[in-house]
Amino acid sequence: MPSSKKTEITIYSPNYYTYGAMLIGGILKNEFKNGKVNLINNLNPQNKKILSNSNFIIFSLYSTLHILNQEIKDTINEIKLKSPDTKVFVAGAISAYYEIILNEMTNVDAVIVGEGEYTTPNLIKYFQNTEDTKNSKNSKNINLEDFKEFGGIAYLSKENIKENIQGENLNKISIQEPKMNNSIELDFSDLLIPKDIEKQSIRGANVYIETHRGCLGNCTFCQVPEFFGRDIRSKPLELILKEVKNLKKHGVKRIAISGGTGSLYNFKKSSNRNLFIEMIEKVSSMVGSKNLSVPDMRVDYVDSDILTAVRNNTVGWVFYGIESGSNKLLSDMKKGTNPEKNLNAIKLAKDCGVKVGGSFIVGYPTEREVDYLMTKDFLVDAELDDVFVSSAEPIPKTRLCNKVLETKKEDNPTFKSHKGMYGKLNLTESEARCFDLLLHAEMWRSVPRIPNPQIKKIYLDEAKTQGNDIRNITNLVYEYKDLIYKDFNN
Ligand SMILES: C[S@@+](CC[C@H](N)C(=O)[O-])C[C@H]1O[C@@H](n2cnc3c(N)ncnc32)[C@H](O)[C@@H]1O
Ligand code: SF4
Repeated sequence: MPSSKKTEITIYSPNYYTYGAMLIGGILKNEFKNGKVNLINNLNPQNKKILSNSNFIIFSLYSTLHILNQEIKDTINEIKLKSPDTKVFVAGAISAYYEIILNEMTNVDAVIVGEGEYTTPNLIKYFQNTEDTKNSKNSKNINLEDFKEFGGIAYLSKENIKENIQGENLNKISIQEPKMNNSIELDFSDLLIPKDIEKQSIRGANVYIETHRGCLGNCTFCQVPEFFGRDIRSKPLELILKEVKNLKKHGVKRIAISGGTGSLYNFKKSSNRNLFIEMIEKVSSMVGSKNLSVPDMRVDYVDSDILTAVRNNTVGWVFYGIESGSNKLLSDMKKGTNPEKNLNAIKLAKDCGVKVGGSFIVGYPTEREVDYLMTKDFLVDAELDDVFVSSAEPIPKTRLCNKVLETKKEDNPTFKSHKGMYGKLNLTESEARCFDLLLHAEMWRSVPRIPNPQIKKIYLDEAKTQGNDIRNITNLVYEYKDLIYKDFNN
């Protein structure tokens, strides 16, 4: 693969063009001006052809389920079988648990660990240069050791396969640590915006944009601070507006602002709510308030000025991470809130004319029946406008994952069979709580609905799908227990 050959790079982001994939695409387009950079979101025959023409392929993955996805695994194996010189990298939020990726997807050349903006172009250049100086016979044994000065990759040292005590082969993994998030400057390159972006709908938005990275929260289950860190790094307002203008030019109509907690935009030592308000006012003036949403908010980072600005400049909704009605469970989750604060923030939003949704977690390993009942009581008091229910997902290398690994399988609600009122439905405890809470929330919303059989079926399917996914993920984390148990200092 001499660098004289035209470089063709393809980024595959399953189902959605994520902001991260579009940003890396933009950076690569800028770096490899003579090459071609493609961004695809499915593996249809046409895109498979694009993959077969590419000499660098980046799988930009954001869910643990992607590691278990047979279509993705088969595609990687197929690419390496047909063209062993094509370099295949895995990147994205799941890169934090590269140990699992490299054992489950043994054909990938490297995992780009952490934020990939700095590592990815350097890794591609590195392969191009190294290939130029090697003869084709030993071109497979590129010594990634020399990539140390850049850092941010993990890979298998195939020469060093070890055996464990059962005599099974264990792949030896080399890791070159990425830089600390707070020492990485955000990259403000133009995004690579696909032609069909206007057809995309992620919970109603064509695109989720990033105004800042990081979260101050410490929530045990959450990946945001683990991946982006606890220091808030914000994008300057003029560059956000330039990006929105560019997205509009490409047909984008509806924009959502992501980033864990919207109002942390420009947080330095304290909240900078005026800059947050100015930002949503200006974005709204470009796309129209009906086309802008800033859904994710923490209950302790809102006030009446922020919520009034949300009402005036966006679709007028916030989604708080409420999680539970039990103080003990909120403390187990290190949420930093309590039911009283949660109720006050809900009331404040309503008083400001903002619709308010709440996200809840069921099946946390320490959730007792009494904690769950408190969550049901909370919903009655809260009269939310909408409710999301998620079964606790042990994202590898979070504190929740450690807790799950410390919990015996038979005590974990993800596996424990439910013996209560839904006994006939053959559910696990997590599934039963998820189903029950979804039904309960229907009846205690601000506009109550009595669930009809059709809605009941939708919720039962939802609870079972979540249950199945999380069982698969939990089995995976049990399998790699020794490799992914993370030492947290607090
Ligand atoms: C609504 S936003 C949170 C908004 C805001 N940052 C906050 O914490 O209030 C994300 C929600 O997704 C859910 N979530 C995130 N990680 C999860 C996990 N590992 N398992 C289950 N639910 C999760 C939680 O309910 C969380 O509140
Ligand atoms: S759940 Fe929300 S507040 Fe907690 S760490 Fe994640 S983004 Fe931050």
